[in-house]
Amino acid sequence: MSLRRTKIVATIGPASSSPEVLEQLILAGLNVARLNFSHGTPAEHRERAELIRSIAAKHGRYVALLGDLQGPKIRIARFANKRIQLKEGDNFTFSTTHPKDQGNQDIVCIDYPDLVTDCKVGDELLLDDGLIQMRVESVSADSLHCRVLVGGPLSDHKGINRRGGGLTAPALTDKDKQDIRLAAELNLDYLAVSFPRDAADMNLARRLRDEAGSTAWLVSKIERAEAVMDDDTLHSLIDASDAVMVARGDLAVEIGDAELVGIQKKIIAAARHRNKAVITATQMMESMIHNPMPTRAEVSDVANAALDYTDAVMLSAETAAGSYPVEAVKAMDRVCLGAEKNPIMRRSMHRLGQQFERWDESIAMAAMYTANHFPGIKAIISLTESGYTPLVMSRIRSSMPIYAFAPSRETQARVALFRGVYTIPFDPSDYPVDQVSQAAVDELVKRNVVTEGDWVILTKGDSYHTVGGTNSMKLLRVGDHHQ
Ligand code: G6P
Repeated sequence: MSLRRTKIVATIGPASSSPEVLEQLILAGLNVARLNFSHGTPAEHRERAELIRSIAAKHGRYVALLGDLQGPKIRIARFANKRIQLKEGDNFTFSTTHPKDQGNQDIVCIDYPDLVTDCKVGDELLLDDGLIQMRVESVSADSLHCRVLVGGPLSDHKGINRRGGGLTAPALTDKDKQDIRLAAELNLDYLAVSFPRDAADMNLARRLRDEAGSTAWLVSKIERAEAVMDDDTLHSLIDASDAVMVARGDLAVEIGDAELVGIQKKIIAAARHRNKAVITATQMMESMIHNPMPTRAEVSDVANAALDYTDAVMLSAETAAGSYPVEAVKAMDRVCLGAEKNPIMRRSMHRLGQQFERWDESIAMAAMYTANHFPGIKAIISLTESGYTPLVMSRIRSSMPIYAFAPSRETQARVALFRGVYTIPFDPSDYPVDQVSQAAVDELVKRNVVTEGDWVILTKGDSYHTVGGTNSMKLLRVGDHHQ
């Protein structure tokens, strides 16, 4: 059985919260479970987190938990009759003073007062992920008067974006701050920040995370037009994050669908280049909400993200609320494995001709260069404290499995997101110094990963449990005695 390198993130919701479905998702190859804080109660999230961890442990699997903050998604309030039907040419008003539950054919309340000051005549507003489009015709103290350009049904709480982005809402709301504390309490492995505008938003999230006592790695969701407007902003946002998500829903609405694929490729490449993990998300297998098989276009979308070397592909409503959550994970598994057979997946030009900034990075790169060029090698062992060394290794294209030998629960789960990286629980301080290499190789033999005569690369530092300490690489032949 070949190991899938591209990882699968699936959102857990009403369709996937029972122990039976969770177990099937985990056995089908789920690597990261996403808890979406836009829906569900803290009690539901707690129960899901506990179930996932206990089922994964029962099967000897490592599943990371990712909490996704709701963020300042700007939404309309409610209609008296739940929904209206708009057509091209209609006039429609957004008002900050209209009663919240009394929207009608002409007007609806909007909870976010700054929308009125942020927008000017001529701006285009997009509702319900861009399905409805309007142009601002006039602005008054408490309302925006618009003309409908593309009509359709509009119902309670639908989101609003502005073409080109630039709405000023700060990235972290009061609810997000509470949810950061929940993430700390649940010991989540990743925390995704919605709608960050720049590095400052991520720095604030990091401070709040630290104050809450969480060790979650921060994922910035790239979904505002201003985040991708210029390379400096994008790069500094990536640098301020531990991982990024190409959050294609809102991003496509703000930048237009024609720009999306190019920007997606650019974000994946930039994240990898800057030693960060990257998740490609939104509508990847959307039709599987209702059908047991994906469309050819969806297959192609998932395969192309894998070919671009994303760390992970993500399922949203498909697993949270769809009729075929397990089939969706199986379909992704199959499609990614298929894409990984392509020879371009093993050819790397990664950072050739560039300087490395750190010694552990240099060792990680040297290990991959050797792994890709010395035919006897079957596996890489990276003794790691935080997961950083295997993360850096997995930025390079290779077919070589990278085994993260990690002592802590946090790191064992965290590396589940990294492309081509697999967890093996291992604490080097359990062994005398001169027996660590042998013990690590024995672990791989025990798991039938390698047999006598195979070669293995092992990286480590001089002292145990030192983040950033990796300074050596060994070539070990299985069957020989190693010190
Ligand atoms: C383990 C090894 C150390 C090494 C460290 C690297 O703890 O025993 O020798 O320095 O991993 O950890 P990192 O988090 O930087 O990958």
